[in-house]
Amino acid sequence: MNQGPYQPLKLRHRSAPVPIIQGGMGIGLSSYTLAGAVAREGGVGVLSSAALDRILSVRHGRKMRAREAAAQDVRDARFLSQGKGLIGMNVMVAVINQYEDSVLGAMDGGVDCIISGAGLPMSLPEIAMTHPRHDEVALVPIVSSGRALDLICRRWKRSGRLPDAVVVEGPLAGGHIAWREESEALDPANHLDRLLVDVIEVAAKWGSMPAIAAGGIYSSQDIKDAIAKGCAGVQMGTRFLATTESGANLNYKKMLVESTEDDIELASRPGSPCGMLFRVLKKSPFYQQALLRERAPKCDKGYLLNKGHCPSKHENEKTFCICNGLLSSIELNNSAEKNLYTVGHNAYRLDRIMSVHELMCELQELPVTDTATPLEVRAQDPLPLVNAGFVFEAKAAAPAHQEAVVES
Ligand SMILES: Cc1cc2nc3c(=O)[nH]c(=O)nc-3n(C[C@H](O)[C@H](O)[C@H](O)COP(=O)(O)O)c2cc1C
Repeated sequence: MNQGPYQPLKLRHRSAPVPIIQGGMGIGLSSYTLAGAVAREGGVGVLSSAALDRILSVRHGRKMRAREAAAQDVRDARFLSQGKGLIGMNVMVAVINQYEDSVLGAMDGGVDCIISGAGLPMSLPEIAMTHPRHDEVALVPIVSSGRALDLICRRWKRSGRLPDAVVVEGPLAGGHIAWREESEALDPANHLDRLLVDVIEVAAKWGSMPAIAAGGIYSSQDIKDAIAKGCAGVQMGTRFLATTESGANLNYKKMLVESTEDDIELASRPGSPCGMLFRVLKKSPFYQQALLRERAPKCDKGYLLNKGHCPSKHENEKTFCICNGLLSSIELNNSAEKNLYTVGHNAYRLDRIMSVHELMCELQELPVTDTATPLEVRAQDPLPLVNAGFVFEAKAAAPAHQEAVVES
């Protein structure tokens, strides 16, 4: 592996040669094909535990529950990583019914780190400490303030564990962001730079765990800047969403490349059932329908909940059922449900879909050396690639298994 300009990222007992974490993107967007490819390049490839029971049951052709599915997804990504880099699992606090099973399942499967946000992951160490591999797995909360980190550390200390690193996520990130009002998200006091100072100060009080900057990191210069501000690495979502290997379907990727800054907004009313702001592409068919209140209240999936239930089941004025929209965007829903596209603020800067290898080289200012197409790398994998949104170049030679593989 070529030596890039950065130092490795140490997460508990293991190190990733490249300090770039590909952030978890649910549902199914940070697929095993994406996480495996990022780890193969020396980074940290992160899966998303959301709806893995559904996704893996289709991929492996038999019913799998959340714990088994999380374990298998880690193994599938590890297979594609060819033993390089690290594999993580993003487990959202808001997916409360499967939280414990997802953490333990990922640990069963040999995961290197659990990254947890979309709420404060207060019980993460208590759950992890029940697993025989607890000492091997790094536990990493995602926070958007020093206060949140302080609360987490106070609680985690009771279980005898402190975070092995902390992701500091600012308001430009994709998916859910920590704020409930747009005015708060736009407030300069919540700019990522300010949050980094605040969180790093609190981290110092608790033994200086590595800080990872997230939300709007786009270029190699952004990575250098984050490191200069005291970070040990970065977590990036949007750039990886627009890679060949991500689970987004073709239309999603096409809309990413075509989007302008005006096409991106923070959905709030209607918004996500969990009450946090949720960044979307305005033109997403599901969001358009939600804005016009044309989709009747309905939630038949029940992953993302608010205080134990999904308000979208009964009303469509304030919320929309993001699980249904997101599952459609990875081609895993009935055709009556339209697509919902979540993105980071910087999605409008994307101008093409590239492979993970090209992106990782760009971010490390290294020349592209690997000429194997993602398809050739994939061909070593005996699993059927169901609904992973994997896009093949038309010019790519078609090996015998391609028909079974392409489904987008
Ligand atoms: C499409 C998309 C889906 C996301 N889904 C999740 C998620 O399920 N859980 C989570 O903790 N973060 C999620 N995120 C946040 C990313 O993991 C990452 O921290 C963030 O996007 C970084 O900002 P960037 O997109 O500007 O690089 C998502 C981001 C995107 C773009």
